[in-house]
Amino acid sequence: MFQRYQAALSQRQEEAQFRSPHTYTPVDATHVIYHGSTYLMMASNNYLGLTHHPHVQARAKHAVDTYGTGSGGARLTSGSFPLFEELETKLAAWKGTEAALTFTAGFMANLGTITALAKPGDIIFSDQWNHASLIDGCRLSGATVKVYPHKDIATLEAMLQDSAASSMRFIITDGVFSMDGDLTPLPELLDLANRYDALLIVDDAHATGVIGDGRGTAHHFHCESPRIITTGTMSKALGAIGGYVCGTQTMIDYIINHSRPFIFATALSPADIGASIGALEVLEDDPSVYANLRINTEYMHHALRSLGIPGSSDTPIFPIIIGSNEDTLSASRICKEHRIILSAIRPPTVPVNTGRLRLTVTASHTQQDLQTVIEILQKLPTVTKL
Ligand SMILES: Cc1ncc(COP(=O)(O)O)c(C=O)c1O
Repeated sequence: MFQRYQAALSQRQEEAQFRSPHTYTPVDATHVIYHGSTYLMMASNNYLGLTHHPHVQARAKHAVDTYGTGSGGARLTSGSFPLFEELETKLAAWKGTEAALTFTAGFMANLGTITALAKPGDIIFSDQWNHASLIDGCRLSGATVKVYPHKDIATLEAMLQDSAASSMRFIITDGVFSMDGDLTPLPELLDLANRYDALLIVDDAHATGVIGDGRGTAHHFHCESPRIITTGTMSKALGAIGGYVCGTQTMIDYIINHSRPFIFATALSPADIGASIGALEVLEDDPSVYANLRINTEYMHHALRSLGIPGSSDTPIFPIIIGSNEDTLSASRICKEHRIILSAIRPPTVPVNTGRLRLTVTASHTQQDLQTVIEILQKLPTVTKL
């Protein structure tokens, strides 16, 4: 009975695709202890370094002291303690929407939003490189899913033209694509959404705290519309855990009443909510944190360019393309030998033969940290150059 699972695992080993978690003990926002030694972390989504910010930690501790460690129930039964309203009001104000709603994870926010809003008979147009949680939300909704080539507006328009006008239509996209760090063409998508009467769902998981003065994709592109529904996570730049959706009051009320991942899951813990509120307060009150992220992003962008490594300076996500799974694993191992954590990202997360080191800079890295990484990358023989 276990043969099939064992065979699948063996195949993964043979194809250099086997994965297992490594235990890293965080020391601060940019360093971890691994097997007794200190390593520089260059692979996390802790873009603003807020996991170790004193104000964020104090907010989390205060929330635990005040409300305990767990919420003890779903939001619609017993778990909705006072900090939820404070966080959701702050999130909505930060995103410039009427209302917001939290979920237990960004993954759940995407599942819970898409499955609540889209139904069999509807048509979803989904970018080819959307995150797994968007893809699974689309599948679970029962709507017809049409995948459009990455950011290809002309093809998407042709697909919209071909779709039945009687169907409810959705366009769904990452705001910042997680593996390449590129931005979705939001103004063009909003134009299509207006002309073809579609709802536009944008996942701001890697955009919140990162672009648009930290407010995300819509703010970056100066796009405002009740058609835009933004999802996201508190687990990356906000340094906590949990997901959210922002939109009009009607949409949020509808999601509260129809979203199974919202209705049937225990509410987030006080520490998560407290930390998330603290993170938004830091973003509002201390512009230097976001400014540091921009400075480090520009620095890395220019350094990589001078090495012939392509990439944009829009976001702190730099895909260092290697190629085969074996070479990607070996590049990651070389970085580790130099006390740098840069994970090997392989298929199916990315297309075959585009294995990569997903390098991320944060507001907390020093320029010396970045220089150390650049020197190692320079020595890797397998990096794809311009
Ligand atoms: C684009 C994107 N959306 C959603 C998620 C899920 O968020 P969470 O980790 O909070 O579940 C992730 C990553 O984890 C992501 O990269």
